This record gives sequence, structure tokens and C-alpha cells, in this order.
Amino acid sequence: MMVKNCPLWLKNSIFYEVYPQSFLDTNGDGIGDLPGVIEKLDYIQSLGCNAIWLNPCFVSPFGDAGYDVSDYRKVDPRFGSNRDLIRLFKEAHQRGMKVTLDLVAGHTSIEHPWFKASAKASTNRYTNWYVWTDSAWTESTSEMPLIRGFSDRNAAYLPNFFYFQPALNFGFQNPDPQKPWQLPTDHPDVLAVREEMKDIMRYWMDLGADGFRVDMAASLVKADPDRVGTIAFWQDVRAMFDQEYPECVLIAEWSFPRHALQAGFHMDFMIHFNTDAYTSLFRDEQKRDSFDTPGTEYGHSFFDREGLGDICRFLRHYVDHFEATREQGYISLPTGNHDLSRIRCHRSQAELKVIYAFLWSMPGIPYLYYGDEIGMSSVDGLSSKEGAFGRAASRTPMQWDEGRNAGFSTAKPEKLYLPLDPAKNRPSVAKQETSSQSLLSHVRALSTLRLAHPALGSDGGFKVIYGRKNRYPFVYLRYLDDEHLLVAVNPCAAPQRLKLPHCYTSIRVLKKAGVKVEKSTGAIELVMAGISYAIYEVVSPVNI
Ligand code: BGC
Repeated sequence: MMVKNCPLWLKNSIFYEVYPQSFLDTNGDGIGDLPGVIEKLDYIQSLGCNAIWLNPCFVSPFGDAGYDVSDYRKVDPRFGSNRDLIRLFKEAHQRGMKVTLDLVAGHTSIEHPWFKASAKASTNRYTNWYVWTDSAWTESTSEMPLIRGFSDRNAAYLPNFFYFQPALNFGFQNPDPQKPWQLPTDHPDVLAVREEMKDIMRYWMDLGADGFRVDMAASLVKADPDRVGTIAFWQDVRAMFDQEYPECVLIAEWSFPRHALQAGFHMDFMIHFNTDAYTSLFRDEQKRDSFDTPGTEYGHSFFDREGLGDICRFLRHYVDHFEATREQGYISLPTGNHDLSRIRCHRSQAELKVIYAFLWSMPGIPYLYYGDEIGMSSVDGLSSKEGAFGRAASRTPMQWDEGRNAGFSTAKPEKLYLPLDPAKNRPSVAKQETSSQSLLSHVRALSTLRLAHPALGSDGGFKVIYGRKNRYPFVYLRYLDDEHLLVAVNPCAAPQRLKLPHCYTSIRVLKKAGVKVEKSTGAIELVMAGISYAIYEVVSPVNI
């Protein structure tokens, strides 16, 4: 079963997420920029990544690192100009790479001219473009927290995230008849907002963008508990893609693939919300998630040397979503992102290698967060920057080399967007380039392996061979046509042995660390050291 009706390039893609502020500063102002991304395209490609997700780069007061847009059609001067972004598209395309942008569809900044007009007491074209009540005194409820007294408009507005990110008006799926300010989804002003958002997408795709990662994609239509209205909107957007931009992709930040892929997204991230699938793999211990709030109870990740995790917590959700969406699109399990603590945390390089062997051998599309290829750490104790709070820890400058500011910028250290990781032994690209044993080399080798074996890739099938409650290792089969690959990971410090089912009479190793094979009574037994992994080609015929 293949994903149908999807751009072919997606089937072999590995994405790299660039947080532009922290990637490479070419003009010495301490903040990364688009010419910096262009300069590093060859490096990104050398990782086996053939597509980029660029975090927001549009004009913004940067209350939330650019997720508060005040002009959707203009690159913020801190990053360069529209010309630079167009040059990035061109340079990427010349290398056979793709560039996807971040579309903040659900809200703007309070600085956006639409919102400024909407906040006026007098009625104008933008009055209904945001969700306003009909009185400045409307009380907030838990479903509808409101901001009151913002302007002379006798109304309160609904924020979508922080208070300065007012929700654009995509309408109410079930408007309350007692509250006429809750506009239906087919109200002309709601339709105008929707068309404007589509035109913004067209604008950038006409200039060369290859699609969008959509921020908070599930948040658009209000009073829509089953997301029926939001799904319908995105289906309409997908129809536009299919008709006008069939080579471009829609990527959801939804974290519920059943809904997101039904809505027409080509892929969805399975991350830290809606289910505990992703958290249960990597980020279940205290302080590993930058959205942590005091009082949260923590468990144990499966990928942890203590070996107290449970792969079934992941599989329960993953297999369900995977089976339901296999023909519709892809699920992405990223190494991390700009909202999460670094996957490195307390882990050793050997532990990261096991995790990456898993992430690079799962169905769907791998995402590498900048710096994770060298194992950059979360830098604790930083002051918040541009609405980051704890998230600043994973947004620090890229560590290119051992030179000034780790090769990120020529600015004075106090001018850097965020301070560098102060650790003496912090990793760098230059150091890891020289070692075939480095994490960087491991990532490159995994990308090469994945791209050489279609069964390992996005469309390949997935079957659990051994995945039991509270047990290690985890073993699964990837398959496509006649190719069958077996992946075994043992992230815990204790060694494990596992007899494979009898049909596996002959296997050939493709990549491994710490795993031996023994034959006993006709069956193959995997003898796995603590913190080990192996990827095998199955030579004997297999019946799925
Ligand atoms: C983005 C965050 C941002 C928020 C509000 C998220 O999902 O990834 O970085 O703060 O949306 O736009």
C-alpha cells in the first residue's frame, strides 16, 4: 500500500529543520540569516537531507520568535529580503532540494495592520477578521479565554496562543445562537480570511516555495470539537494544491495523523501533544520537555538506559494511526524541534545512535532538527528570548567549529541571538567531520542506507516482531515488494537476547553496533549488548 496522490519527491525525503535565528549569521549582527542558510545548503545535503523546513522568517515584532506575523508577504529584515528567500529557493532547487516555509495560519501579531484595523471602534473591512465578542465585558471561560480592554472597540478578542497572537476568524462550527458574534464558517468575512490565507500560500509557491509546515493546524475553526470544520477547510486548501501546485506539500503541526491526513495534509508530526506516543519514546522524564509545568508527573521513556520504558505506550497509538492513514500520507517522528528539549539531554552518543537508527528506519518522513546531527545539548538556565521561556534551551547557536562563536557569527558574544552552549567539550561539525565514529557520520550513513533501501523508506510496510509491555528490545520488520529488513533496538543498559520467529533462517547485516547473531535449535537468536542496534536484510523468504 502506497501513499496515493502525493508528490513523488516526498517518498524519498529526509527533512532538516532550520531555526534561522540560530543557524549562521553572515552579516555579523549576531542573528542568523537567509544568506547563512544558502551558504550551508551543501552541508545540509551532505547529511542526506533533501528538504528544509524553515521556521518563520516573515516581518514580526518577534514576541514569539516570528510566530506572530505582521506581514505574511515580506521577509523580516533581520533575515535578509524577499530576494534572499527567492535565491534560497533557486539554490536549493539547483541541488535537487526543496524548501518549505512555516505558515502561521491561525493567528497574527497584534501589530498586523489587519488586527490594528480590526481593533478600531469604527466598522471597517477587517472588523470581523478576528474573533471579537460584542462587549468589552464578556467574561472568559475555560474554552474561550478572552483579552479585554485592548482598544476602544467595545469587544474582547480571542487569542490563539499568547495574548499578542489574536485568532484569525475561520468561523465557528457550532455557533451559539445566543452569541451572534460567533460567525458561521460560511460568513462572507470568514470566507475572505480563508481566501487570503490561500493567496498567501500561492504568493510564496509562485515565487518557488515547495510547501508549508502549518503551525497549530488544528486550531482554526472554533467550537469544533471533532475538527469537522477545520478538516473541511484544509481539504479545500489541498484541492487547491492538487490543482494548482501538485508538486508542493502541506505538513501539519496537528499531532493526530488520523485527522490531519484526512484533512488533506501530506504528513503530520506525531509529537508531544494529543497522545503520549512520542513523549513515551524520548521525553518522559522530568525536565525533558520545555513545556513542562510544575506539578507534572513524569514517567520513563522507552529510549532510556534505565530500561523502565514501555514501547506499547507508543505502539498503541502509532500502529492505529499508521494503519488508518497508510494510503493518505505520512507520519513524522522528528529528532526534536524548536519547542522541545534537545533529544541529547543526558544521553551519550551511543544512546543517540540507537535512537537515530530507530528514527531513520521508521515509515514516514524523518526530520532532523538543526544541531541534533552532532548531539547539541539543551542549554539550561538561559533567560527567555522572544517568548521562548524554557524553549530557549534548544534554540542556541549552531556549533560549526572551534573558532569564534563556534563559527556561528563574528559578532561580540553578548550580541548573539542566544548564548552558545558554554560546555568546554561541546560538539561541533568540524570536530565530527574528522571521525568516522561520530554521530554526524552515523547520521550520514543512516541517510545513505535509508535512501538505498526502499523498504526502509517512507512507503515501506511496518510490522512489529517483538514489542512487549515493559520489555526490551524492540524488533520490527520493514518491507516493500520483495525487500524485507529487520530492525532491532535495545536502548537500555541491560543486555538482551531474543529468538527470532522460525521463518527468519537467514539474515545479512546492513548496519549494527553491539549485536551478535547465534543459531540455536534452528532459530536465529539476537544477542544484544546494552545500548545496541542492528539493521538486517532478511534473505530467507518471509510471509507477511
Ligand atoms: C509553534 C510554537 C509557537 C506556537 C504559537 C507552535 O506550535 O511551534 O513555536 O509558539 O505554535 O504559534
